[in-house]
Amino acid sequence: MRKRFEPSGPLRGRVAPPPDKSISHRAALFAAMTDEPVRIENYLRADDTMSTLNAISSLGAGVEEKNGTILVRGVGLRTAAPTTGGMLDVGNAGTLMRILPGWLAGQPGGVWRLDGDRSIRRRPVDRVMEPLRLMGAQVDARDDRLPPLTIKGAELTGIDYKLPVASAQVKSCVLIAGLLAQGHTAVTEPDQSRDHTERILCRARVPFERDGLRLGVSPVDELELDDVTVPGDPSSGAFLAAAASVIEGSRVVLDGMALNWTRTGFFRIAERMGAVIVGDLEKRETASETDEPAGELDVAEAPLEATTVEPEEVPLAIDELPLVALLGCFAEGETVVRGAQELRIKESDRIAGVVEGLRGLGADIDARDDGFAVRGGEGLEGGTLDARGDHRLAMLGAVAGLASNNGVEVDGIEAATVSYPGFEAAITELTR
Ligand code: S3P
Repeated sequence: MRKRFEPSGPLRGRVAPPPDKSISHRAALFAAMTDEPVRIENYLRADDTMSTLNAISSLGAGVEEKNGTILVRGVGLRTAAPTTGGMLDVGNAGTLMRILPGWLAGQPGGVWRLDGDRSIRRRPVDRVMEPLRLMGAQVDARDDRLPPLTIKGAELTGIDYKLPVASAQVKSCVLIAGLLAQGHTAVTEPDQSRDHTERILCRARVPFERDGLRLGVSPVDELELDDVTVPGDPSSGAFLAAAASVIEGSRVVLDGMALNWTRTGFFRIAERMGAVIVGDLEKRETASETDEPAGELDVAEAPLEATTVEPEEVPLAIDELPLVALLGCFAEGETVVRGAQELRIKESDRIAGVVEGLRGLGADIDARDDGFAVRGGEGLEGGTLDARGDHRLAMLGAVAGLASNNGVEVDGIEAATVSYPGFEAAITELTR
């Protein structure tokens, strides 16, 4: 579906971004692994997280929805039901595709086959197959690296694993497998990635160690999880913040948003570029390990200057890097993102999608193997942007349209429902 986004006046007002996608996936999966019912408040109702509810139902969990609350009656840590039709459909959800195998691999007796849409089929799963195999798992994939992924449950043994690339999905997969494995399991990341799994493990009273970037778990018999309330998604809020940062006279308050410091990297980058952001972006000190801090951010337009995003910042802003390119179009100087080769294996090749997409709108931008460089200051003329079936590119095109001189036609705007079904309504509300 094509949709045109015309240049807009200032964005003004207060909006609550949709519930966080990463935390929703984890809340549903962990609730499915417990024996007692768990209530999830503010669960994200978007395509990706609906795939997770469908998956846990296929695995035997009860899922009820009442007055906006999801009640999950879990099957217990060691008793996921084998699928009847043999297939678990993850849709477009890479997080589900990579975290769920950690749970299933450690359940002798079951066989599961995980598959999804065209985008999922080009996204590698060997990064979870490798550590799981080292633990004794029986996993197979197309060409040994691409979905569908077949998992035959087995007895696992703990490992001490160093992730080659920082990835919250892979880290989470190994930690969950570690709950089912014999002995101790440790995972070390090269850089910090989002820590929602660590927080939920603490909340589920799992003996869990954290020593810098090294994490450890020991097997448990069962999980106990208190009810979970999902805060707003900073990755979704970032689209509105980016629009507010570049459209003259804008001021937007994002309400009830997750302010976990492992998710606010984009806002720190935007602030460094000159955006006016009021709010606590470093809830590191005050947060207890089990809490997901939330609060408001007040974002206002201001002149921007170019910046360089360094490799260690990348995992903390991974899903928002397309928006750094957009800000770069409006910032004086050359904005560079380095060490972000992971963008090539997201829902689409996001280096190609961002560079070709924004160049088509008039940006002076080049792709690099591990990121991009954009020379800005002139803003964007407008044109057509192909979302390539990728929700974040669809929303990038829409924001680019609002900020452009002549408007942008987004080809494939419907992809936004993967993470932010109310995106267009939020824009209408703020530009009214
Ligand atoms: C996610 C982790 C990130 C991110 C994805 C969600 C998660 O991927 O890009 O959208 O919920 O764990 P990686 O962990 O592979 O970097």
